[in-house]
Amino acid sequence: MAMSRPDLAPQTGSPVAVPARASRGPLCVAIVGCGKMASAHAAALLEDERCELVAAVDPVGEAAAGFARRFSLPRTYPDHRAMLRAEAPDIVVVCTWPPDHAAPVVDALAAGVRGILCEKPLAVTLSEADRMVAAAEQAGAIFMVGHQRRLEPRYALARQLVAQGAVGEVLEVIGAAGGDLLSDGTHLVDLVRFLLGDPPALWVFAGIDRTLPERMSPEGFGTRDFNTTRHRYGHRIEGGAVGHVQFARAAGPEAAGAGARVGAAPGAGAGGARLLFETGCLARPTGYQSLRVEGTLGRLAISGDPSGDGAPWLRIQRDRGWEDVPLPRVNAVQRQDAALLDSVLAGRATPEAALLLGHSARADLEILLAALESAVQRERVPLPLQPADHPLERLESGEGGR
Ligand SMILES: NC(=O)c1ccc[n+]([C@@H]2O[C@H](COP(=O)([O-])OP(=O)(O)OC[C@H]3O[C@@H](n4cnc5c(N)ncnc54)[C@H](O)[C@@H]3O)[C@@H](O)[C@H]2O)c1
Repeated sequence: MAMSRPDLAPQTGSPVAVPARASRGPLCVAIVGCGKMASAHAAALLEDERCELVAAVDPVGEAAAGFARRFSLPRTYPDHRAMLRAEAPDIVVVCTWPPDHAAPVVDALAAGVRGILCEKPLAVTLSEADRMVAAAEQAGAIFMVGHQRRLEPRYALARQLVAQGAVGEVLEVIGAAGGDLLSDGTHLVDLVRFLLGDPPALWVFAGIDRTLPERMSPEGFGTRDFNTTRHRYGHRIEGGAVGHVQFARAAGPEAAGAGARVGAAPGAGAGGARLLFETGCLARPTGYQSLRVEGTLGRLAISGDPSGDGAPWLRIQRDRGWEDVPLPRVNAVQRQDAALLDSVLAGRATPEAALLLGHSARADLEILLAALESAVQRERVPLPLQPADHPLERLESGEGGR
């Protein structure tokens, strides 16, 4: 199933052919939330002999029924709790909107599932994120979050080049993404953390734009949802954002799972690389999730998702001009979902799965909420951030901001 843009996977259409196989594997998978991203996962999992898609959950009966028909799932449920009781699945894939991630994740873990793939962003508040991460730790289950872009060759090879010192010490990364901070900035922050070897962030300073729709840049990456409802995926959004994230000096990939924290907030400029991000209507219209990495010995440029038929690219500049790095084609969602199955079968996270675990997504969310908090408070926000509500909700209710 060739599907290079999971976010563009059609929600409706003709049934997907289930590959013929003598016997299905032992892992029973249920999918919660039957929309666009669920289709990308179902298509990927149908290709994998080691699992069987047994149930689809969606309160919208038509969505569940259409999805079940299309991907040949035998049973549908309007509610995840009923599904967990009846099916006792091995794996649950959670593709609801972010405010509805925590309930199915925590309930599935309590019901004894062995693996969960929850879509990004992990949640809209840190307390919900903490609840999920703690429940997964207590259950000893594999808990992955859908930041599958880490497995896309343009970013994975860039990470390898950085780790090999090909551009020297990274001083700054400039990143752009369309959409809003939580929905799209989550990939951007996650990819930059990945490139840098998952160092802790020290502080965040950001501003957001909430100007009237007619003043939004027509060439930019603004979201239609901001113009119309100021909500997207069930949560409040900004029209655009720009900001800086100061990371600690790179601690290497092994820091990814260490939950390292820097106690005291250092002064501006301390630490390692800095991310300069621009999102939504404030982003220049380069590729979606495009990155430029400035090092002491050279630079990298990553296309992001090129528009039209263009292929993604990764370029490096050292002493001679820019060189293209050859990129293999990979379906990152398929690779991510296979890593989940590998890990559940092995009883521990494989190296690929270890890049996508819940605590890493929690670190992304902390940076994104710190950016919103900074915009609301109009000051630099040191990390760790205390678990609290969604800063934009507070701002709109008139309680936040100065
Ligand atoms: N990893 C990626 O690259 C990527 C790309 C796009 C979207 N996403 C993420 O995937 C998630 C889903 O996005 P989408 O675009 O598929 O949304 P969608 O609107 O297409 O689908 C969501 C579905 O969830 C259903 N739903 C609502 N409440 C539910 C509940 N309590 N239980 C079960 N189902 C429920 C809705 O009826 C709908 O069918 C979001 O978190 C989004 O950010 C990830």
